[in-house]
This record gives sequence, C-alpha cells and structure tokens, in this order.
Amino acid sequence: MTTNNQFLKACRKEKTDYTPVWLMRQAGRYMEEYRKIRSKVDFLTMCKTPDLAAEVTLQPINRIGVDAAIIFADILLPLEPMGIKLEFAKNEGPVINNPIRTNEDVNALQLINTDEELPFLPETIRIVKQELNGKVPLIGFSGAPFTLASYIIEGGSSKNYIHAKKMMYNEPETWNRLMGKISDVIINYLLAQIKAGAETVQLFDSWVGCLSTEDYRQYVLPHSKKIIENIKKEINIPVIHFGTNTTTLLQSMKEAGGDVIGLDWRINLDEGWKKIGFDKAVQGNLDPLVLLSNPAEIEKRVKDILKRADGRPGHIFNLGHGILPQTPVDNVIALVEMVHNFSGK
Ligand code: CP3
Repeated sequence: MTTNNQFLKACRKEKTDYTPVWLMRQAGRYMEEYRKIRSKVDFLTMCKTPDLAAEVTLQPINRIGVDAAIIFADILLPLEPMGIKLEFAKNEGPVINNPIRTNEDVNALQLINTDEELPFLPETIRIVKQELNGKVPLIGFSGAPFTLASYIIEGGSSKNYIHAKKMMYNEPETWNRLMGKISDVIINYLLAQIKAGAETVQLFDSWVGCLSTEDYRQYVLPHSKKIIENIKKEINIPVIHFGTNTTTLLQSMKEAGGDVIGLDWRINLDEGWKKIGFDKAVQGNLDPLVLLSNPAEIEKRVKDILKRADGRPGHIFNLGHGILPQTPVDNVIALVEMVHNFSGK
C-alpha cells in the first residue's frame, strides 16, 4: 500500500491535501551522496547495477522529501540492445559511435525484450519497491520517439538536428520506419517497468520543441500516440507526457495523449494549463536555474506558480527541466518544504 498517494491523486486530477512535488533529475550530481558512489563507478555501470541504482533512486526520497521516486536509469539504455554503440564520454554527454542514417541502418536495428536484455531495470524496480515499502509511488520512464530518434540519428546531443530533419524531409518512409521501431521498443521498455512495479510512467520528449507544429503533427504525433494508447490499453496507469520548448505544441501533445502534460518555464503555468485544457493534469514549471539563486527568490517563484495553479486539482509541482549539477542541495530541500507549506501541508 502506498501511504503517500498525493502524487497519484494529482495525476488523476483528484483533490489532494497539498501540492505534490518531485523534481526531474532529482537523483544526480548535485547530491554529495550521489557523487560519492559515482566517484567509484561510471554512469552506465551505476544504471546496470541494481543495488547501486536502487540506492541512488532512494537518496532524494530520504534527503529532499519529495512525493514520488523516479527510477534511476537513462532514456538511452534501450538503445544498446537495439544494436547502438553507446558511450558516456567524460564531460561530453552521450556519444553514439554508429549513428543511424540510412534505410539499411534502420533495417539492422533490433527490437528488444527488456526483461531479457535489460534485466537490471526490472530488478532495480523490485528492490526500490521493497525498500520504499509504500512510502511514495515510483515513476518509470522512457524517452519519447522523437527525442530518442534525434540521439540515434545525430550520434549524440545536437543543436540543429541537421541529420534528423534531413531524414524526416528527404526520406519520410525511412523516418517513419525508424520511429515505428523505436516506438515498439519503448512500449516493451515501459510495460516491463510497469509490470515490475512502476505506478506511473513519464515519456520524456525533451528536444521535440525544435519542431514546427505541422512537422510535429505529421512526423511525431502518430508515434507518440501509438505508444500511449498501447500502454493505456494494457494497463490503465497515469502517463506523464513531457517536453521542453513546447509552448506552440501543447495542444498537439495533449492530442498525442497523456494524463499529465509537462510545462516548462517559458510559458506561465496558468496560460499553459489553459491551452492544454483544465480537463488534464499538468506538471511544472519552475526554471531549474532559480534553484541557483536564494531562498527569498525561490519563495517568490514558488508562490507565483502555486497562485497560477489556483488550487485546481491536478497540479504536480516540478521544474520545467532537469535539476543542474551546480544546484545547492539546501535550496532543493527548501523548495520542497515551501511547496508543501504554501499549498496546505
Ligand atoms: O530524474 C531522475 O532522477 C532519474 C534519472 C534520469 C537520468 N536521465 C539520469 C542521468 C532521467 C529521468 C534521465 C532522462 C534523460 N537522459 C533525458 C531526458 C530528460 C532531460 O534531461 O531532458 C535525457 C535527454 C537523457 C540523456 C542524457 N543522459 C544526457 C544528455 C546525459 C548527459 C548530460 C548530463 O547531465 O550529464 C545523461 C547522463 C545522465 N543521466 C546523468 C544522470 C544522473 C549524469 C551522469 C553522471 O553522473 O555523469
């Protein structure tokens, strides 16, 4: 039994006692406890060692007091069994040594069986669930097809998405087959997490904001929609659909699906929520950089966001994107306390 069900209630737009809060990248380098483990093993080894991944997942629950845990993993993990050579180069982020650019490259990609090929992930989830013992719900996650395709095609992080957009415009059939394969992988990856015990899943479409509305609707929406529909058909748990730079895409993202739509700080929470429609729950939307300021400034911003949410059921407080490694941990603890206190805890 989950004792603190405020987060799940908000996902379902039910009334809560206070506004639940969790933070994207809440487990990470801004925490000394994380850095201590990370100094001994590389990032991918951490993800693939269930005891370590479970320990790191639980660190922010104990230290920060958030209302949900998110499993420690990465959106790029399912790419390896697809046949993609992934590395995290020091201070460079992800590097893919065999980027997918042609029809033949797409044909060679494998579908995956998460339980068999990424067994550490369901195993980490089982350990975390046991340790949490119902204290807070657990979120599983995956990259959304556009964001994963951008890494696969570009070979890493990107500024202009040159190769991805070239494939989209020049070879729409290849693009669609690639997106279809990635989507099938995502469905398997998310369902394995849900079966192992994840109570919600978040789809991260972090880089989708580089697209026009028309391109999103033509080249991305049908794939994201298929994933969300397949998950919901299998088991009706809340799905959070997140992206950044999505002010112009919010209605289309809602159409693709999700019980909760993520908002970043580029749009005021009330304006974003109105665009999406008050029939959906929303998650957001503090600029993560505000956490590098001071408690008085953080307080002002928290109050503003809560005022814009106006006590409507269905607001999950979060940042508009992941927490940065330079963030002082005391500011994060203060933030969670403020959200709870100012919203009625
Ligand atoms: O939120 C959490 O606490 C759960 C863990 C989590 C990680 N990555 C751990 C991680 C989650 C939800 C992610 C998602 C993820 N990974 C996204 C989508 C969210 C976003 O930020 O837009 C993306 C785009 C990735 C890909 C990725 N992983 C990049 C670009 C990088 C390098 C950049 C960086 O921050 O170093 C990673 C590495 C990564 N993923 C780290 C962590 C804690 C840092 C690894 C380290 O310790 O060196």
